[in-house]
Amino acid sequence: MSLLTCREEYAGLTAAVRATVNSACHLQIMTAARIVVVGTGYVGLTTGACLASLGHRVTCVDVDAGKVARLSAGRVDILEPGLSELVDRGLTSGRLTFVVGAREAVREAEGVFLCVPTPMGAGGSADLRAVEAVVAEVGDVLPAGCAVITKSTVPVGTSRRIRAMLGRVDVPVVSNPEFLREGTAVADFLGPDRIVVGSDDLEAARWVGDLYADLSAPTVVADAASAELVKYAANCFLAMKLSYVNAIAELCERLGADISLVTAGMGYDRRIGRSFLKPGPGWGGSCLPKDTSALLKIAESVDYDFQMLSSAIDENLAQRDRIVAKIARAVGGTLAGARIGVLGLAFKAGTNDLRDSPALAVSSVLCALGAELTAYDPAVGGEIAGMTVVDDPYQIAKAADAVVVLTEWNEFKRLDWSYMAELMHGDTVVDTRNLLDPRAVLDAGLSWQGIGRPLKRAPLRQGALS
Ligand code: UGA
Repeated sequence: MSLLTCREEYAGLTAAVRATVNSACHLQIMTAARIVVVGTGYVGLTTGACLASLGHRVTCVDVDAGKVARLSAGRVDILEPGLSELVDRGLTSGRLTFVVGAREAVREAEGVFLCVPTPMGAGGSADLRAVEAVVAEVGDVLPAGCAVITKSTVPVGTSRRIRAMLGRVDVPVVSNPEFLREGTAVADFLGPDRIVVGSDDLEAARWVGDLYADLSAPTVVADAASAELVKYAANCFLAMKLSYVNAIAELCERLGADISLVTAGMGYDRRIGRSFLKPGPGWGGSCLPKDTSALLKIAESVDYDFQMLSSAIDENLAQRDRIVAKIARAVGGTLAGARIGVLGLAFKAGTNDLRDSPALAVSSVLCALGAELTAYDPAVGGEIAGMTVVDDPYQIAKAADAVVVLTEWNEFKRLDWSYMAELMHGDTVVDTRNLLDPRAVLDAGLSWQGIGRPLKRAPLRQGALS
């Protein structure tokens, strides 16, 4: 039997039979399942396109008809390496389609992934209205045995809540959190560290785990609450790790130590690991801030005062303030009227996402304190209130009292710093990502100031005196 025939036949079996086949034969057969993905944001679109690339038949649903039309024509709006190619391939193979209207789409589905936004609601909890709206829309037309799978980050207990809303014993609910980083979402999906699936129906959880069988990743099969908590526990741990690193960087500055050497010494300890040890202007983006707030709320709801987490959030805000103070010192103490050239606005390199961007937050405070800002980001254009956004990095240096790197785009490393120095009025580069090679900046006659590293001063330039 060819693999394809084998897959087709396998897909025709019920979930129960498939489970038996798997355990009896110890086979890892990739099931060509009929999947619906609701929501085509960066999580939903990545999930849909990647599942199609694994051989599944995927229908992606969105309420935005314009977006559905653009995606059906192969046009992807978000900056996510590899995603356009996968969408193209899925469309060409016929395994990936885009439609409006979840109710019609789910009628033949074996699994429905909920990938709709769960933004921070009033008071910091996750706002579940979009999830609930989809469940209400499709609840009575889901075929028996079809799994409802939460991919969006949802509070612990949501699976149970969805089950209660559905009121159907024949529809299992599975939590399958995503661990995708913006900018590397496709690579993260296809090369995951682990797959987590959780449900009070373990057979359904295993079926969802099997959708990823070709990826050969370790799979953690859990109860629903544990799977839901994994995502928060992981993101909040990363946030705490970063706040800790930013605090150690501050100590470095006060003690005359160098954070790059301290983190090198820490990172080689395999229990700590080398990733997520880079200091910066604070952590941001669409996930870490909302998930830390949501987990605090979850803890509060069970009367637990999660001080370690609230300190990490406070530390993150303090980091932004310290960065503003550092920039103020770099322009002689007062920001009012100072001309500042900003490199980077996105919350991290590799994305055009400005949601909860520390770069944008710092820039906004600088503007509010009277600084005149000119900003460049390779992925961000258009108008931003209070500042001038330009499309050439050298323009930000024109007559600038200081240049500030706020996002770690590699292209900033390759700037001609001698030319930047010629354009600038002042002589300080504040590098809040420790991105640049300080020597390149010093050789241009400028001073370089990083985070948690000793200040490096160039000898006074003629230009800087005039
Ligand atoms: C984060 C998690 O890393 C993903 O695993 C998770 O799936 C995702 O949230 C989500 O919940 O969907 P993301 O928000 O894309 O991913 O961004 P990260 O790469 O985690 O960066 C978060 C923030 O930390 C950024 O502001 C970044 O600049 C900062 N950061 C990261 C540092 O300051 N230093 C580092 O060493 C690493």
